[in-house]
Formats: sequence, C-alpha cells, structure tokens
Amino acid sequence: MKLILLGVPGAGKGTQAAQISARLGIPTLSTGNILRAAIAAKTPLGLQVEGILAGGELVSDEVILPLIKARMEEPDCKAGYILDGVPRTVAQAEGLEELGVEVDACLFFDVPDAVVIDRLGGRRTCGTCNAAFHVSANPPNVADVCDVCGDALTIRADDEPETIRRRLEVFREQTAPLIDFYTARGKVKPIPCGDKSVEEVTALVFQTLELA
Ligand code: AP5
Repeated sequence: MKLILLGVPGAGKGTQAAQISARLGIPTLSTGNILRAAIAAKTPLGLQVEGILAGGELVSDEVILPLIKARMEEPDCKAGYILDGVPRTVAQAEGLEELGVEVDACLFFDVPDAVVIDRLGGRRTCGTCNAAFHVSANPPNVADVCDVCGDALTIRADDEPETIRRRLEVFREQTAPLIDFYTARGKVKPIPCGDKSVEEVTALVFQTLELA
C-alpha cells in the first residue's frame, strides 16, 4: 500500500500516519521530520533549510525530490509507505510520477482553519521519535514527557501564530492544487474531519481504507 496524506498544517496527518503505520506495518515517510532531524543535527542541509521552515515557506522541489527518492529506496519501503507532507507542490507530484511511484490513494484531511490554529497552538512534539501530542485534546500521560520514548516534548519553531498563518497561505497557494491533480487520477479519498477526535478520525480512515 502506498498512501499520500494531504491536508493543511495541523490537520492531523502525522497523528493518523502513526495509526495507519501501526495497523499496516509500513513506514511513514515525512519530509518535515527528515528536515527537522537535519536541522537538529546541524548538517549542511539543516543549516540550509532552518530559516525556511521557521518562516513557514516551502523548501525547494530540487532539495525535496532527491531526499524522498533516497528514503523510498531504503529496504523498509518494499511493502509500501505512507507519504506525510510530500508531495507538497504539483512539481513534486510530477517528480514522483517520473520516478515511477504509483500511489493507491491520497487521503485528504479536511479540517477548518480555526480548528488547526487552535491545535497547533497546543501541540507538543517529541524531537526524538516525532510523536505529536496536544495539551488538552491529546495529552501525554505525564506533562511534557513523550509517552512513546520518554524524552522531553517541545514546541515546534514553526508553531508560532504568525508562522501558522503563513503556512496556511502557502498550503492554499502551492499545495491545494494537488487535490485536483489526484482527483483527475481517481485517487482522492476525502476524510471529512471537522472537529472530530483523534479516535473518530482514525475510525473514518480505517473505514475509508477498508481496514475496519
Ligand atoms: P511538515 O512537518 O510536513 O508539517 P505540516 O504539513 O505543516 O503539518 P504538521 O506537522 O504541522 O501537522 P499534521 O497535519 O501532521 O498534524 P499533527 O498530526 O501533528 O512540514 C513542516 C515544514 O517543512 C513546511 O512548512 C516546509 O517548510 C517543510 N517541508 C516539509 N515537507 C516539504 C515538502 N514536501 N516540500 C517543501 N517543504 C517541505 O497534529 C497537530 C496537532 O493536533 C497535534 O497537537 C495533535 O496531537 C493534534 N491533533 C491531531 N488530530 C487531532 C484531532 N482529531 N483532534 C484534536 N487534536 C488533534
């Protein structure tokens, strides 16, 4: 199974990717996580992209495509994968097609802006294992400690109100055209999330993928 998770920042892509990954036993390939790991390690790539992420802009297609290609060639991707946060532009989607990637479905997580603005304001993430929590809607068992690996939870650099607004604009300008791109290929499966809980959205996703 090869899946794309599409939706505005904070729509719950990473949260649901973890559920699907556990259910299907396939990895999540998140370009955001790859870039943040590079920033934390202060690699040349990390130094190149740090300001771009902090400002809510997109990293160039020329940087992203080789990164995701290399990740897809790793052995754990043989049985499939979940693409979280990529493709993000029509050029990236075309680039994946040129690599021969054929996805089974593109899940579109439809969540109103007001809901995601609140969610991102309360998000706490683990820089070690990438698990995401929310201070009230999806709290960790112990405040500011990751349930999965026990490390400290932090606030992402791009979860400041001004940057959240810019990320939403960038989604409309550069990523939303992918809905038409994958609709034309018969791949889009809408997930009408509204303000549903994590568990309710997971149930919808499994039903949509006929895993229920
Ligand atoms: P990326 O890391 O991909 O971030 P994003 O798309 O902005 O999405 P988020 O991670 O913010 O949100 P999410 O939808 O995963 O929500 P989550 O599950 O965490 O990209 C970051 C940056 O990297 C980009 O801005 C860009 O600069 C760069 N980048 C990455 N990929 C790129 C690419 N391909 N091309 C170019 N640049 C790229 O949930 C959010 C919060 O809500 C959490 O607190 C969670 O606990 C909570 N929550 C989730 N679901 C629910 C629910 N149903 N009810 C209540 N709370 C919920």
